[in-house]
Amino acid sequence: MSQYYKICIKFIKKIKKPLKKSHFRKKRNFKVYFCRVKIISEPIEFYCETHSSKASDLLYHLNRETYIKILNPRMIAGQLQGGFLTMISKMLKPSNILEIGTFTGYSALCLAEGLQPNGALHTIEIDEELEEIITKYFNLSEHKENLHLHIGNALEIIPKLNKTWDLVFIDAEKTEYLQYYEMVLPHVQKGGFILIDNVLWNGKVTEPIAENDRDTQAIVEFNQFIQNDGRVNNLLLPLRDGLLLIEKL
Ligand SMILES: C[S@@+](CC[C@H](N)C(=O)[O-])C[C@H]1O[C@@H](n2cnc3c(N)ncnc32)[C@H](O)[C@@H]1O
Repeated sequence: MSQYYKICIKFIKKIKKPLKKSHFRKKRNFKVYFCRVKIISEPIEFYCETHSSKASDLLYHLNRETYIKILNPRMIAGQLQGGFLTMISKMLKPSNILEIGTFTGYSALCLAEGLQPNGALHTIEIDEELEEIITKYFNLSEHKENLHLHIGNALEIIPKLNKTWDLVFIDAEKTEYLQYYEMVLPHVQKGGFILIDNVLWNGKVTEPIAENDRDTQAIVEFNQFIQNDGRVNNLLLPLRDGLLLIEKL
């Protein structure tokens, strides 16, 4: 057993949280959990949260249930980033949104706030054990008719979605970011946007990269690729773990 898994198991015993079999299979979830830190200081983040509109009751309960029942709850977008996604969506008023990496559905519900009345949000999640909680909260949403959940691997599902996207949110496996990006970019409207989460990766993008650290390597290469990509404009914001805004030219 690797040192990595020993740390995970020690942690899980400490919080006495029941664990599903799939959590041992999906090493990616552990990676995300243990990498998550705060780019901005806790007092600043707290100040920002307390000077921003509160999340809706639905989002409050989803956040709470995620922290009580789901492993790696910190993957959830939360009030600040969720609020930012809602604002962006309300400004763009998109007809078609694609999200890659649903987790428990928090960011999807935030993005859906700005959808056109007949618009559609498609969101893809590989972990079938999350389907129950996602569906529960989607059904409670006033946008439930506009929300389409796809359970499976985004790399297989994206090519089957025959749509043109106004807004895409990429928040799944870090080593696959470039593949998601290349798959969706041709299907994004001119003037449409792609948002990418975790592009500062705990600040590791500015430090020497450990030999076996494939996630940091992938994110550094991805950020540089976008910086050199003449097809887009890009803006990297230090929001939460780093959010990259990409406009298709
Ligand atoms: C950071 S979480 C997403 C958080 C969510 N967007 C939010 O803000 O609440 C990443 C999710 O992507 C999923 N994921 C990872 N690789 C995937 C893939 N290839 N296809 C679909 N989902 C994937 C993971 O199971 C995990 O639930």
